[in-house]
Amino acid sequence: MSPVEKIIVGLEERSYPIFIGPDLLKEADTYLADFISDRQVIIISDTIIGPLYQGSFTKKITPLCTRLGNLFVPAGEASKSLSAYNTLCEEILNIGIDRKTVLIALGGGVIGDLVGFVAASLLRGIDFIQIPTSLLAQVDSSVGGKTGINATAGKNLIGAFHQPKLILADTSLLSTLPKRELLSGYAEIVTYGLLGDAEFFSWLEENWSNVLSLKQDQIVFAVKRSCEMKADIVAKDETETGIRALLNLGHTFAHAFEAVGRYNGDLLHGEAVAAGLGLAFDFSVAKQICKPEDALRVHAHLMEVGLPDDYSALPAGKAAVSTLIKHMKKDKKAIAGNLTFILTHKIGEACVMPNISENELTTFFMAKGVNHV
Ligand code: GLY
Repeated sequence: MSPVEKIIVGLEERSYPIFIGPDLLKEADTYLADFISDRQVIIISDTIIGPLYQGSFTKKITPLCTRLGNLFVPAGEASKSLSAYNTLCEEILNIGIDRKTVLIALGGGVIGDLVGFVAASLLRGIDFIQIPTSLLAQVDSSVGGKTGINATAGKNLIGAFHQPKLILADTSLLSTLPKRELLSGYAEIVTYGLLGDAEFFSWLEENWSNVLSLKQDQIVFAVKRSCEMKADIVAKDETETGIRALLNLGHTFAHAFEAVGRYNGDLLHGEAVAAGLGLAFDFSVAKQICKPEDALRVHAHLMEVGLPDDYSALPAGKAAVSTLIKHMKKDKKAIAGNLTFILTHKIGEACVMPNISENELTTFFMAKGVNHV
């Protein structure tokens, strides 16, 4: 049995632990006791995850709380909307809450982001706990306090920084995930190696099939190393004024691909990220700041595990350069319409590259065969 790993996100009086390991949900009362005892708790899940885990989890923690409510939101990205946010806030207020009420987000990234934002805004901020059930949520979205919903103008444009009180990452829950979703989460794990830990990337090259087949030692290590890296970055730059932007290696490309696909479910976030990672390395090579061998290694790994490594495999492969650039300009890192990319000097050494011109980007995409319309 893998030992339970504990990582602290160090934010002084707002510091919180991340527990990582198999079967943690079965002992949820032990892990959550300090945070929910003698308080009102509302568990929020979605219509797919809820029926799987909410019953047993509720039973486990009921003796600790003064009152307990259960709410469900429809599964899927559409729940990261103003209307779903409004409905959830009204439902919670109808139950009746006070400043000591704790919300528990039991689900993937959509639930974590939505519930986190609801917690950030109800009564101007109440506590919440993340119990991420997808790999992507365990290694990325549940950690670091970015919460929010989508706007018509783009993804995650309405939100707040609001840190959870605790994250419980039970790696046994990953066994019910479809393989494609697991791979999508794996793309974020690869991102950590590429942006700041070459040794971790080499480890992933050796161990990826054990990670993806959920061998407990390897999956726990991969989730732990990812959370450790994110915790370290968040502790240094909570609100992304500096190095937190490095977590977005490949993401400016990825967000444009997702926008072209109109978030219709054909493209998972991690798939877009994987293609974005390949492109970030290619663009870095084109800018002569990275050796071609490193880009080749990244493409080889993404292809070996079965992730897209370039835009051409995606629905966005048919988009015009001008369409891709239009979407990239909506990136939160763009300032006054100037594009900023996270690029790389080598595997394990990402860098912020501001002032990328449209011409430069157009030339890069055209060299890759994207239509220039
Ligand atoms: N997913 C990037 C961040 O949390 O900053």
